[in-house]
Amino acid sequence: MNKPYSQACENNKHPILAILKNAFAQCSSVLEIGSGTGQHAVWFAQKLPFLKWYSSDQPQYHEGINSWIDEFGNANLQRPIAFTVGQDLFPSQRFDGVFTANTAHIMQPDEVKIMLAQIAEALPSGGVFCQYGPFTQQGVFNSQSNEDFHHKLVAQGYGGYRDIDELIQWAEPLILCGIHPMPAHNLLLQWRKN
Ligand SMILES: C[S@@+](CC[C@H](N)C(=O)[O-])C[C@H]1O[C@@H](n2cnc3c(N)ncnc32)[C@H](O)[C@@H]1O
Repeated sequence: MNKPYSQACENNKHPILAILKNAFAQCSSVLEIGSGTGQHAVWFAQKLPFLKWYSSDQPQYHEGINSWIDEFGNANLQRPIAFTVGQDLFPSQRFDGVFTANTAHIMQPDEVKIMLAQIAEALPSGGVFCQYGPFTQQGVFNSQSNEDFHHKLVAQGYGGYRDIDELIQWAEPLILCGIHPMPAHNLLLQWRKN
């Protein structure tokens, strides 16, 4: 198959990597939720070789992810796990890190709530969760383009943007220890389990 391709992934993978290098420095095993095309998985596995990187997504994405792994997969990158939040149990492997990009505004709110609860339960003490995407802060959009995109997503039946304050409530006992500004009005939220 032709590999699926996201220009956004190519644009954001460098600034995300700059944060993940430090955030996951003490980790050994990371689950990526909603790997999408698989571009992030091959890039981060290659650039963070001290990590065992587990890609995952809904089964219909696996062929695309595997086509990226076939061409660019490092030995530390695992084939995709079938994981649909809201339907499946959290993967049973042991992870001390979790990464997800651009999933919280696609999922329904109750799925985001479940995802955060599952991550909070699965991570060990000291575990790290890095969540990239667009969010509102205290109900405020950080750009007109983000506000427009949120309304478009909701009209199409997607969940739309989540507010950082609601994520803080849902993620408990995870602590939000960093809000990193990213290009194109995105953020990287860095969470930690104490
Ligand atoms: C906009 S794409 C982002 C893909 C990739 N992470 C990226 O940054 O390009 C949204 C992803 O969320 C995944 N997703 C949506 N709902 C999900 C759910 N309930 N459980 C797991 N993944 C889900 C989709 O399958 C898709 O891969």
